[in-house]
Amino acid sequence: MQVKYLEDMQTLVGLCKQRGFVFPSSEIYGGLSSCWDYGPLGSQMKMNVKRAWWKAMTKRQDIVGIDAAILMHPTVWKASGHVDGFSDPLVDCKNCKQRFRSDNTDSYLEHRKCPFCGSKDLTEPRQFNLMFKTHMGPSEDSASIVYLRPETAQGIFVNFSQCQASARKKIPFGIAQIGKSFRNEITPGNFIFRTREFEQMEMQYFVKPGTDADWFKQWKAIRWDFYLNLGIKEQNLRFLPHEALAHYAKAAEDVQYRFPIGWQELEGIHNRSDFDLSQHMKFSGKSLEYFDEAHKEKFIPWVIETAVGCDRLFLALLCEAYREEITVDEKGNKDIRTVLGFHPEIAPVKAAVFPLLKKPELIEPALRLREELAETWEIHYDEAQSIGKRYRRQDEIGTPYCVTFDFDSINDQAVTVRHRDTMKQERVALSALHGYLQKGLKNF
Ligand code: GAP
Repeated sequence: MQVKYLEDMQTLVGLCKQRGFVFPSSEIYGGLSSCWDYGPLGSQMKMNVKRAWWKAMTKRQDIVGIDAAILMHPTVWKASGHVDGFSDPLVDCKNCKQRFRSDNTDSYLEHRKCPFCGSKDLTEPRQFNLMFKTHMGPSEDSASIVYLRPETAQGIFVNFSQCQASARKKIPFGIAQIGKSFRNEITPGNFIFRTREFEQMEMQYFVKPGTDADWFKQWKAIRWDFYLNLGIKEQNLRFLPHEALAHYAKAAEDVQYRFPIGWQELEGIHNRSDFDLSQHMKFSGKSLEYFDEAHKEKFIPWVIETAVGCDRLFLALLCEAYREEITVDEKGNKDIRTVLGFHPEIAPVKAAVFPLLKKPELIEPALRLREELAETWEIHYDEAQSIGKRYRRQDEIGTPYCVTFDFDSINDQAVTVRHRDTMKQERVALSALHGYLQKGLKNF
């Protein structure tokens, strides 16, 4: 058997659309550039991605969660530096009218020419602020401008003191949040890799100044293990220290994943110093200092941040999971089994229940079994076409187990459980099935 892994994004885009993971947004109107909707399987899987991250963070005694508003006081973005500095250099080609970012286009950087048509008739780079603006209330004047947040982090910084006091946390401790962010990217693309509306999973860990370098190291190790535990292979992950640091950062490294488009950022781990809390103290006039009871000292905590895009991790997990198993029989007939080998925690469906044939005496107990299992897990039911085709459909969406209720099941009260990766089948008593799946899904 030959195994082929994902080589191009287009294969994934097709599978995602066909099987209900991700659809182009507003497609009946021709779609909207770089906007995507998560379908029945995609929304379930995305929930699983978020749950895995949320659990990894908030199961810790030293991390609490919040859910801050997308719209924030506009001064927040002045204090954070986004109003003045969150911009990309934009260049227009006067010949082909294409617009591009001048800081990451090789042909521009080397030869100052258009990457699309090669023309040298270009505008000078001008700074383009990436924040989406809107107006609050009925008047559309400059006093009513609010921004769609470009990162979730600021919702954590402005709530730092309230979280610390209400949860009675001592430093070091962290605040975790999952939520939508918006950036008016000049060059979005590569499916859900870079979009203008996306979800972030960020955690800001507040530490005593001087302990920041050590916590930065610790969080790198914790985040690395998180990805390995979700089934990402070590050879597809690497750290890349930033060459140029952002205005707020003392240290920054990306966790990169080897996407079909090459090595790209999956997560940023940053030492943000006390920049954000200091800025918010300055602009709000409120103290965000921490009082250390034990040492009777006051200080502004430093922040180690781990920030990953939920959509980008979703994409990485899809890329990682995709494989085609190719077999050729003696007669030269080629068979391709497409499998999404998800970690069970991520798989949108944990098990599928089939009646062997479309007969009422099998359908009824199979449906009952589906209902029973669905109390605990996401379960599919399928009675259409041959059992082989049904297995293949589940393989293609990454379902770890298929459970078949056959004629023998009526008498022996047992079912056949088929494993996605090995395709091995086992007979399991109905009374033991719940425990069997529970153990299997945990120790996959
Ligand atoms: N608070 C820090 C911060 O936002 P970032 O590196 O700009 O850091 C963190 O963003 C993560 O958010 C990135 O590593 C990426 O996974 C995700 N992300 C950023 N921009 C994105 C976009 N336009 N589309 C999808 N994901 C994006």
